[in-house]
Amino acid sequence: SLFVTSSPYLVTSRATVSRLYGFREAVAAARSAAAAGPQVGAPGAAFTLNNLTLTLPDGRCLLDHASLTLRAGEPVILTGASGAGKSTLFRAIAGIWPFGHGSITPPKGSLLFLPQKPYFPLGSLKRTVTYPGVEQDVADDAVRTALADVGLEHLAARLGESENWSLILSGGEQQRLAIARALLAKPDWLFLDEAISALDSAAAGKIQAVLREKLPATTIVAISHHGGIAPGQRHLALSGGVLAEVAA
Ligand SMILES: Nc1ncnc2c1ncn2[C@@H]1O[C@H](COP(=O)(O)OP(=O)(O)OP(=O)(O)O)[C@@H](O)[C@H]1O
Ligand SMILES: [Mg+2]
Repeated sequence: SLFVTSSPYLVTSRATVSRLYGFREAVAAARSAAAAGPQVGAPGAAFTLNNLTLTLPDGRCLLDHASLTLRAGEPVILTGASGAGKSTLFRAIAGIWPFGHGSITPPKGSLLFLPQKPYFPLGSLKRTVTYPGVEQDVADDAVRTALADVGLEHLAARLGESENWSLILSGGEQQRLAIARALLAKPDWLFLDEAISALDSAAAGKIQAVLREKLPATTIVAISHHGGIAPGQRHLALSGGVLAEVAA
């Protein structure tokens, strides 16, 4: 009778143990995934990539032992064929690419990344423009000015409206709005991943001029098909896993 009453208990406890074991394994796997990959260290005086190798989940190499120093005040344009790994390099710099090795020493100061397709939080237009900052911290006038700076003055009267703005705004308008975020955030470093790719070259040129004028203290690193963000910028090209300087 001891066997009869205790065996269901044994069955249950064994299941519990194996579930817990599975849970512990999952936690360990998540920990080692976070510890693997390129390491983003504490901010340093310079912004450096140190023997940085980036791979894909299947092991294909996108960047092969690259070492590089980026300097504040020196704008950079990054070019390379589609699929070369440009966006992946930005993800690694942001600390969200888990495959590869080597390390990145980010610069002191604030970094803002604008992806090609901007993220739209739910809520008012003001919330959308002030993202990722805090809506209440920004004056309405500042938001209206930023919208006007990027050619979205027609939206200035609609700050309080909650809509699905990603459906209402055109692709180019969404990219302009993302640039307005950068104008409000005034980051020390701004990473633009084809952030004005939907604009024609005249409109793109205007946005580049606005960025230079309104964010003189921001170092811009841009992936772009539109070419220059500023005269005298540094040009890096990514091809076949090699990040090379391109002479001006
Ligand atoms: N999460 C992922 N899992 C698997 N492969 C990925 C992942 N993200 C990107 N890749 C692959 O990595 C390669 C580089 O992608 P990446 O987006 O960095 O290219 P890119 O240089 O930015 O190209 P584009 O100019 O088209 O934006 C591509 O072949 C892509 O399919
Ligand atoms: Mg890309």
